[in-house]
Amino acid sequence: MSLRLDPDSALNCLPQPLVIVTAGDFEKPGQRGGMTAAWVSRVSMSPPLIMVSIAPSRYTLELIRRNGEFAVNIVGETLEKTAYGIFGSRTGRGIDKIAESRVKARRGEKTVVPLLEEATVALECKLVKTVEAGDHVLVIGEVVNALKFSEEQPIVFTP
Ligand SMILES: Cc1cc2nc3c(=O)[nH]c(=O)nc-3n(C[C@H](O)[C@H](O)[C@H](O)COP(=O)(O)O)c2cc1C
Repeated sequence: MSLRLDPDSALNCLPQPLVIVTAGDFEKPGQRGGMTAAWVSRVSMSPPLIMVSIAPSRYTLELIRRNGEFAVNIVGETLEKTAYGIFGSRTGRGIDKIAESRVKARRGEKTVVPLLEEATVALECKLVKTVEAGDHVLVIGEVVNALKFSEEQPIVFTP
């Protein structure tokens, strides 16, 4: 049995992680934010590089470009609702999603970006480069520090 799929439906069959990408300065509520992302992948072993594919309109992309840093917060059960809610559905232009969501957060150790303490793991990244790809921008960063906050299993996003 086989069924022909259009490319979009076929690509949706790829298992995707659920993360919240945070950026900006944790200490400056007007200049920090974050967004939910599923188009995320490890891309190099040495150096340890990670890629997030972000639409050009996202406020989070603006913050990443401005400061050259971001964090990838891997979502488990505790953070799942927040990922589908405020971080995945509203732009951070004009609102402080971290304060509004009441998510526990702290400043990074090797970066100034917000780390979400309700994530399973948070990876602090320095921006290496951005690459335009179709209607998205690939944001490639080097993981410079990582913190494990819980033993929860990462959520797999099903479109
Ligand atoms: C489950 C889920 C996955 C998402 N994945 C992505 C993604 O990989 N790339 C992207 O640009 N937007 C993605 N989004 C949409 C952004 O999270 C959403 O537009 C967000 O409000 C942008 O916020 P910002 O403008 O504050 O950056 C996703 C949303 C959800 C709910």
